[in-house]
Amino acid sequence: MNHVKSLGEFIVEKQEDFKYAKGELSRLLSAIGLAARVVNREVNKAGLMEDILGDAGAENVQGEAQKKLDVYANDEFIRALKDRGEVCGLASEENEGVIEFKSGYAVDGQYVVAIDPLDGSSNIDVNVSIGTIFSIYRRTSKSGPATFDDFMQKGTEQVAAGYIIYGSSTMLVYTTGNGVNGFTLDPSIGAFFLSHPDMKIPEDGKIYSINEGNYVHFPEGVKKYIKYCQVEDAATNRPYTSRYIGSAVADLHRNLIKGGIYIYPTTTSSPNGKLRLLYEANPFAFIIEQAGGLATDGFRRILEVQPTSLHQRTPLFIGSKNMVEKAMSFMEEFSPQEA
Ligand code: AHG
Ligand code: MN
Ligand code: MN
Repeated sequence: MNHVKSLGEFIVEKQEDFKYAKGELSRLLSAIGLAARVVNREVNKAGLMEDILGDAGAENVQGEAQKKLDVYANDEFIRALKDRGEVCGLASEENEGVIEFKSGYAVDGQYVVAIDPLDGSSNIDVNVSIGTIFSIYRRTSKSGPATFDDFMQKGTEQVAAGYIIYGSSTMLVYTTGNGVNGFTLDPSIGAFFLSHPDMKIPEDGKIYSINEGNYVHFPEGVKKYIKYCQVEDAATNRPYTSRYIGSAVADLHRNLIKGGIYIYPTTTSSPNGKLRLLYEANPFAFIIEQAGGLATDGFRRILEVQPTSLHQRTPLFIGSKNMVEKAMSFMEEFSPQEA
């Protein structure tokens, strides 16, 4: 059998490509890999554990009910990144403000991490794929715990981003700006191994992913694009197939491999969209662009949006290049943006 590269070996081998302090980012990525394995262990036995399934009894900053696993995953990722010396603070979906690392080596950490510790909360209790999404930046402040401004950087400034999908197998997919690589967890060994080197998203696809239940609340351009997807046309392979899991990580991962478009547009009840810029849209955008696809809010490139708050929302049109361009042309024609 050929030697299969472990995540640890791969990170060390590739660290020469990193722009900045090489060992630091390597250690940070390894810490994320470790936390992912711990969370994976709990996800896998969730049905057996009363303290894992169900509501935590609190709401997060978005006013959404927290699941026990949301809280557990959040604690694990914070714990894994704290006091290692690489990260001086986090922004998490589950915490209103910046999580400042105030003691030990952490205050000298050169990186900040934005994280959605558990993506797809509504799928936890029903054994459907869920995920974790992370985005890593160099700090802009000089020293001390992370500041709000450290997180107000455009997505173009990300030094690394990735996701973990807890699916029929568990995978970690990440980029440091030199392509996208996917690693599959071998649970018998407890290590990730390179299974999907240099991932590329097909330029065209046949899958569209959108919560069509919100149809009446969509902008006209999105309604028209959905109808376009459903029209019979042999030359362009239509009608397309509709696939929507409701865990963005899982929908994105499938589309990355097979080709497709994922849209979470504005709706009348969510005029800014639902997904969060810092720890959902930006890391996804970095990965999909690195894989050859596109990520926009329907009009502009996601990675160039200037953040102004930690939990800012954005519409998201992401996936295969030709499909996103087509959807954007419908937006321009039927739902032009107000100046
Ligand atoms: P989270 O579980 O982190 O709050 O994210 C859920 C997000 C995303 O993963 C998913 O695609 C989308 O919300 C589903 O929203 P709808 O139920 O409105 O379709
Ligand atoms: Mn999410
Ligand atoms: Mn979440």
